[in-house]
Amino acid sequence: MKIAIINGPNLNLLGTRERDIYGEQRFEDYLVALRQRYEGAAELHYFQSNVEGFIIDELHRVGFDCDGIVLNAGAYTHTSLAIADAIRSITAPVVEVHISNVHKREQVRHHSMISAACAGVIAGFGLDSYRLAVEAILGMK
Ligand code: DQA
Repeated sequence: MKIAIINGPNLNLLGTRERDIYGEQRFEDYLVALRQRYEGAAELHYFQSNVEGFIIDELHRVGFDCDGIVLNAGAYTHTSLAIADAIRSITAPVVEVHISNVHKREQVRHHSMISAACAGVIAGFGLDSYRLAVEAILGMK
C-alpha cells in the first residue's frame, strides 16, 4: 500500500506553534514512529507546503497512483475551493485530518470547503488523527 500524507500551511511548525492546541511533537519525529508502525504494510510518503498551489500540484502528482491520501490542509480547509476541486479531480480517496477538534474552536473553523470531496474526516485526536486516517485507508482495501 502506498499512502501519501500531505500537510498544509503552518504545519511545518508543529512542536513550536501554539503548543497548547497542537502539542509538543515535531511532525518529522511523529512520522518516524508512524512509518515504523506500518513497516511492511504501508509505504508512507510525506509532503508539506505552505503554498496552496503546491498542495494542489502534489495532489495531482500522487493522486492517481497511491492507495489513499491523508490531508491536513490547515487553514486552507476553510477557504480553498481549489483544493476541493483538486480532490475531486483525482482517483485516490482522501481523508481529511485535523489535529485539533475544529468544532470546539472558533466558528470560522467549523466549516470545511473540502469535507464533501473527501472520503471521510478525522479531527480532534492530536497527532493520532493521522494514524486513524491511515487505518481508515488500510480498511478501504
Ligand atoms: C488544523 C485546524 C485548522 O483550523 C488550522 O488552520 C490548522 C490546523 C488542525 O490540524 O487542527 O492549521 O487543520
